[in-house]
Amino acid sequence: MRATSFPAAVAVVLASIASEAAASPVAPAGASSCTGCHAASPGVDTPIPRIAGRSAAETVAQMQGFKTGQRKGTVMDRLAKGYSDAEIQAIAEWYAQQK
Ligand code: HEC
Repeated sequence: MRATSFPAAVAVVLASIASEAAASPVAPAGASSCTGCHAASPGVDTPIPRIAGRSAAETVAQMQGFKTGQRKGTVMDRLAKGYSDAEIQAIAEWYAQQK
């Protein structure tokens, strides 16, 4: 009895972990180095451009501009070079979800 119900219980736990991860507010790797300058909440007013709530496509495009040197910056051109395209995509999607 116990042996047969165990896998079912594991499946339930795993399913709940998976669905939690999908809606997770936890930032992807690397995002914490952005939030020190770019607030994670669009409501925060700072002199640094606000990127929370912005579309992921727009943030990715700007990051690529900095990364390739097409767009000049004071810090972002140097910073962007340290991130892979996949990391930039994940961070941009996370910022887009911040409300
Ligand atoms: C040290 C502070 C700092 C950090 C850390 C930082 N940024 Fe920036 N970011 C800036 C500043 C300042 C600008 C304005 C451009 C410039 O001077 O480089 C900017 C500009 C941008 C822009 C363009 C916004 C616009 O409207 O023009 C994007 C997109 C961006 N940053 C994304 C990121 C992401 C993603 C990260 C993390 C990987 C990050 N930034 C980390 C300071 C920072």
